[in-house]
Amino acid sequence: MVNVAVLVSGGGTNLQAILDAQDAGKIRSARVTLVVSNNPDAYALTRAANHSVETLVLPKADYPTRAQFEAALDDALRAHGIGLIVLAGFMRILSGDFTSKYPERILNVHPALIPSFCGEGFYGLRVHQAALDYGVKVTGATVHFVNEIPDGGRIVAQKAVYIEDGDTPETLQKRVMEQAEWILLPEAIEKVAKKMNCACGA
Ligand code: GAR
Repeated sequence: MVNVAVLVSGGGTNLQAILDAQDAGKIRSARVTLVVSNNPDAYALTRAANHSVETLVLPKADYPTRAQFEAALDDALRAHGIGLIVLAGFMRILSGDFTSKYPERILNVHPALIPSFCGEGFYGLRVHQAALDYGVKVTGATVHFVNEIPDGGRIVAQKAVYIEDGDTPETLQKRVMEQAEWILLPEAIEKVAKKMNCACGA
């Protein structure tokens, strides 16, 4: 069984999808044992507490530099025996120093089909705004491993979603979540964790 830490910053609907998949037996090889937020007001923390999952808040005010934040995060992950880190709407970029300590052990969900509409500055509604501005007819979501390049790690899974006439960033975000992210991310966690368990002979 792989211990998973989910890193969040906001509403936490992807965290909820992971916890629901766990309850439904769709995630069997891993268990969320820690939720970390850089935002004390993130509703994701309430979702974790409702599920009796331990939470940790590392606010910018207490950890102003990236190095301080990452040192505290690394300490907590090690103390909890975390094997897999999942970025689920986590809005702080992790440095190469940090990601190199967890090669192919950090997953991120991005709300577009990488390599479109991704990289630094592309997050949340901005991604959907960019897709609508460009005029693409198909977008989607990507789950990928995290390395030193923002949204640049190896792709694990992708799912396409059609754009509809009259879409706004908000309507598109909702459809991409419902049709892609909430399905894809739990599936990817199970797939990666199952492989990790096999590699350990567990
Ligand atoms: C999700 O759409 C996620 O893909 C996106 O933020 C939203 C978080 O929602 N992440 C990024 O844009 C990262 N580049 P949630 O807090 O309800 O899961």
